[in-house]
Amino acid sequence: MLRARLLKIEQKRARSDPLPQTDAPYTDSFEFKVESSGSKPKARRLDHHFSLDSTEQVSSPLKDSSRSARDPSKPPIITLGTARPAPHFFPWTSLSMEGLPHNHFAKVGADSAPVSMGSINGENAYNLSIAMSYGYSAGSPQVLRFATEHVELVHNPPYDDWECCITCGTTSAMEIAFRVLCNRGDWVLLEGYTYPGTIAAANAQGLRTMGVEMDNDGLSPQHLRSILEGWNESKGRKPSVLYMIPSGQNPTGTSQSAARRKDIYRIAEEHDLYIIEDDPYYFFNLGESLDSEDGPTTPEVFLSRLPPSYLSLDTSGRVLRMDSVSKILAPGIRCGWVTASSQVIGKFVSQTEAGVLSPSGPSQVMVYKLLDETWGHEGLLWWLVHLSAQYRQRRDILFRACQKYLPLEICQCDLPKMGMFLWIQVSLSAHPLAGDRSASDIEDSIYNAALDNGVLVSKGTWFAQCKNQSGYLQFRLTYAAAEEIDLTKAVERFAVAVRAEFQLGETPPV
Ligand SMILES: Cc1ncc(COP(=O)(O)O)c(C=O)c1O
Repeated sequence: MLRARLLKIEQKRARSDPLPQTDAPYTDSFEFKVESSGSKPKARRLDHHFSLDSTEQVSSPLKDSSRSARDPSKPPIITLGTARPAPHFFPWTSLSMEGLPHNHFAKVGADSAPVSMGSINGENAYNLSIAMSYGYSAGSPQVLRFATEHVELVHNPPYDDWECCITCGTTSAMEIAFRVLCNRGDWVLLEGYTYPGTIAAANAQGLRTMGVEMDNDGLSPQHLRSILEGWNESKGRKPSVLYMIPSGQNPTGTSQSAARRKDIYRIAEEHDLYIIEDDPYYFFNLGESLDSEDGPTTPEVFLSRLPPSYLSLDTSGRVLRMDSVSKILAPGIRCGWVTASSQVIGKFVSQTEAGVLSPSGPSQVMVYKLLDETWGHEGLLWWLVHLSAQYRQRRDILFRACQKYLPLEICQCDLPKMGMFLWIQVSLSAHPLAGDRSASDIEDSIYNAALDNGVLVSKGTWFAQCKNQSGYLQFRLTYAAAEEIDLTKAVERFAVAVRAEFQLGETPPV
């Protein structure tokens, strides 16, 4: 099945014209989709969702003129128009790298020697001098083609006019998405505990954020519905944007089940909510139990076990999905992609032109050379299978250490099924000074004592968007950063800080 879909991608490429070789070529996802346009219904028009800024935004005349100057049916144009320096003014002539080979992580017949990758001025695959110049805001054709094929392979959105746009990573994409969808003073709904970068991006644009309660399955549809049904316009315009991290949620580690996602999508349809799906941990699928690896994992099995993304459920075109290479390749690349309806992507590209302009050319070369030229789609999936196995092992170590060292009579943590976070809830009722000291005081004490003991954790209040769950403190622990060998020691040190604060004495021997 996966083989057949990969073959279709190859056949589509073989039938297509070569990628354009000019500066900042204008391309879109429609050129790269395997499924021909017209086979699915179109997305709904969403004009009423756009902010005043993005409704009034016009595209740059300089960019429009440089686009029309590149019509291939006309004779070559000598440009005295845009101030795009000629390639011989760039001091770089080549870029060379080494990386892991495409089947390094496939269990059978794996290569291990690093592969050389490079780009030089004038080459056909990805001409370095074009990468070094100003690029098109939706990304280079090379990377846009790979992202579009990947999205079709993994999510296959159920409407026709979806497109991708390459981004400078999700933080940048989020800033742009809020600009497109929200006006100053608007409310944005999000999970009760969420990524602080999102709160900062929203607040910087004068948006107000409201946390929706969560349970073990992530954002609560009941609470979401009650907020929307009971909305009082005296608080401001009813929220029209819902931001979520549905898989391996940051910070709580919860992952929404398929049923939960469908419930929430239904509510979004009923209340005309636009969904921002921020999903950097989607591919870290760690299994439901410790040591779980339900049989041999191939890319095909791996894909079949992933939960449905909101993008894959989106029949109306009301989801903007944000993907990033930060967690699956490297954060310093500053690259990712968003997927949404053409109407939304059009607005997104216009805002990009007025801000970050385009993703970095050399970063796109690096992504293309590794993902497309060296690994291919299957190689990327093998890499994700490998990463998931690594994180599964680390999760198991950290979780076992929590079970062993934390005082379980006051601490509770669930095994995360996806992502890189473990969420510890500490019951305050057993604190010797419960009632006399504030929760944030106790949180500070534990945090500082843990630091003194040589371990850094994250405080729950840094992520809180709703009233602290009464009677509990929270801490976020990640198994992504430390050396694997230090994970157990780190939990032991954290446990010492918790025990000291609650005057519980040493960990009993097991
Ligand atoms: C939920 C979430 N969104 C976005 C980001 C940042 O992504 P990027 O590096 O692509 O800007 C993070 C980083 O931790 C995250 O946890």
